[in-house]
Amino acid sequence: PVTVKKICCIGAGYVGGPTCAVIALKCPNIIVTIVDLNKSRIDAWNSPDFSLPIYEPGLVDVVKEARGRNLFFSTDVDKAIKEADLIFVSVNTPTKKSGVGAGFAADLNYVESATRRIAAVATSSKIVVEKSTVPMRTAESMRTILEANSKPGLRFDILSNPEFLAEGTAISDLFSPDRVLIGSLQTPEGLDACRSLIEVYANWVPKERILTVGLWSSELSKLAANAMLAQRISSINALSAICEATGANIDEVAHAVGRDSRMGPKFLRASVGFGGSCFQKDILNLVYLSESLHLPEVAAYWRQVVIMNEYQKRRFSKTVVDTLFNTITNKNITVLGFAFKADTGDTRESAAITLIRDFLSERAHVTIYDPQVEEAQIWYDLAEAIPDTPIEQIKKQVTIAPNALDAAKNSEAVVIATEWKEFIDIDWKAVYDTMNKPAFVFDGRMILNADALRQIGFKVKTIGRGEKI
Ligand code: NAD
Ligand code: UDX
Repeated sequence: PVTVKKICCIGAGYVGGPTCAVIALKCPNIIVTIVDLNKSRIDAWNSPDFSLPIYEPGLVDVVKEARGRNLFFSTDVDKAIKEADLIFVSVNTPTKKSGVGAGFAADLNYVESATRRIAAVATSSKIVVEKSTVPMRTAESMRTILEANSKPGLRFDILSNPEFLAEGTAISDLFSPDRVLIGSLQTPEGLDACRSLIEVYANWVPKERILTVGLWSSELSKLAANAMLAQRISSINALSAICEATGANIDEVAHAVGRDSRMGPKFLRASVGFGGSCFQKDILNLVYLSESLHLPEVAAYWRQVVIMNEYQKRRFSKTVVDTLFNTITNKNITVLGFAFKADTGDTRESAAITLIRDFLSERAHVTIYDPQVEEAQIWYDLAEAIPDTPIEQIKKQVTIAPNALDAAKNSEAVVIATEWKEFIDIDWKAVYDTMNKPAFVFDGRMILNADALRQIGFKVKTIGRGEKI
């Protein structure tokens, strides 16, 4: 097998950036160049004061140590492709917005462009690694494109190496992954390419955690893992609705269920609904695949995970309206948290966006505070979520506040949409004093001590609890 000396990563986003920064850190003998067409993103990765384009705990330390040593960020895609022995394709694969499969299938335009670029400029053989989450058999399309467009005599071995990191914990996930999955063709050449990539990870990942499988199993495993994780959340959220209707407590139910060692305690936190760029996209992708394979029952089964998630978000905003005496028109609602989960500035598919859209359609005034999400991003997301309303109109109904206390001033209700730890430590008495009465808290993340808040005077509704407010 080839010993990898130079790696190119195409796509400097949430996956390509942290993943290949960690590879550079752990493999000082490999030169890693992360490239992107987006110049401002690359400039941010290269910024002298390390104001990186994504917020991820621990990431700055990794980049500080490796950048300029054996880690480089560049917009010169062609040069990095030419020099590399191994290329990660880590570009975005969003859900298609139009055309065949719109709303379900993955848009493979970026993967194809990156692949065509590799074919056009490569002057030596390469190992090409799918890092992006892709529909099954994408590796085959990549090979066809590479073989049809490259210079004669070059070999391209395609591997699938899906990424399992979660945002907010990306660096610790990458430092000690549960597993690294590598899929390859089971031919001598495919297995050799696989060995080359194993040697890269073996610099820090114990060998028994590096799983090798066939290409198609690897591609499907990534979709399967995300679908099954999301399914757990939809299951617990479905049960949270039963708890609210009956007086059971979803925390107690989740604890009791999760103590079964066959099930385990993780990923059983009821919430306002899952967000993030992956779960919904990858399930819809699986639904599309199942339909294409003429398996409608399988498609319907997975689709229900997304339907339940939509229901959970809708149900929560309805609870807010119902509790506030069936109208929030002209009322001030404070939304704490805009990111799709804590410890990230990422807002893709954040449940907060859906809740705020619902509140605005009831003609409420909404004040938002998030510790990481930038103002421009909030306006961008709201404009996209409410396309029929001009942004000037949205801005009349929405305020962005610099902290939680300011955000809550003169409001009727505080809604917790993201589980940021700092929301637990807020001076809730001070918040109460500035709010209109009765003052309500809607805890969509089960992070607050409801009894302590009630002592202060708040009326509190927590997801998954049927108790009196
Ligand atoms: P992202 O949008 O943050 O980053 C993708 C980057 O690729 C962008 O900066 C874009 O400019 C660049 N790009 C697109 N086409 C290009 C081209 N032809 N040449 C050079 N650069 C190009 O996306 P992401 O969140 O990093 O996700 C990337 C992939 O990884 C997706 O397939 C996603 O499903 C998968 N994934 C994401 C996560 C996650 O937590 N975000 C986790 C696991 C897997
Ligand atoms: C997910 C997968 O976890 C990761 O393995 C994959 O590589 C990418 O997709 P990510 O979307 O970054 O990662 O975060 P994750 O921690 O999975 O949370 C996703 C959403 O589910 C968030 O909105 C989170 O708040 C929500 N969630 C998670 C719950 O509502 N309850 C839970 O118990 C866990």
